[in-house]
Amino acid sequence: MNNNPIGVFDSGMGGLSVWQTLQQTLHNESLVYLGDGLRCPYGDRSAEEIFRFTVEAVERLREEGCKLIVIACNTATAVAIERLRAAYPDTPFVGLEPAVKPAAEASQTGKIAVLATRKALEGELFLRTSSKFANRVLIIKAVGEGFVELVEQDMEHSDEALYRVKSVIEPLVEQGVDYIVLGCTHYPFLRDAIEQVVGDRPVQIVDSASAIERRVEYLLDMHHLRADDDNVPQYRFLSFADDDYIASLRKKAFG
Ligand code: DGL
Repeated sequence: MNNNPIGVFDSGMGGLSVWQTLQQTLHNESLVYLGDGLRCPYGDRSAEEIFRFTVEAVERLREEGCKLIVIACNTATAVAIERLRAAYPDTPFVGLEPAVKPAAEASQTGKIAVLATRKALEGELFLRTSSKFANRVLIIKAVGEGFVELVEQDMEHSDEALYRVKSVIEPLVEQGVDYIVLGCTHYPFLRDAIEQVVGDRPVQIVDSASAIERRVEYLLDMHHLRADDDNVPQYRFLSFADDDYIASLRKKAFG
């Protein structure tokens, strides 16, 4: 048994969509969330910058004694996950990749959309997974321009959010996709706006949070890292930005 915390990292607030799933299912596990906040968004930055920022976060979470680290950021996962595993062999990592497989296997129209940042869509892991299903479905890739910034500014329920979401989602629905994969952890916070645009048309919206939670449990068991059943979980929030940002992380986490 190990009562040390699980670390969860994202470029900003997006990873809280994964944090919430972990907090609601792993009731006896402590969690330390680190949202960079200072250099967000990462999606259009160079791979080297993203790697450097991710290593800074991993070092910080290891200082906190994290027994397992979730890179709750598709962009950072795409750039850094293999190098992190090589550099820190004693720390189990869970990375995120867009949930292409379940959508591709379930699609009836043979067309699915994957919404992510530019860097995540360029990731080797994503390209490898997508090519595996290319003969089954047409995968339409789209960047959620400005979506990360909307969530970072707590504007996910604004008219601006609805306008931006409509400009990206409507063309995808009109092309006949029946699945929209949210390949960025910020995007689930825009689910209300996305569902409003989709309306009653037959389109499913999927994200990776539940798959990540299952993976975390698998690794906890494989490495005998589960907390004691009676462990009282602690929830801490860290950032490279200021205390106001940390307060906004906590507020959105429990929102
Ligand atoms: N939440 C991050 C992801 O899942 C957003 C990256 C960014 O900061 O642009 O890719």
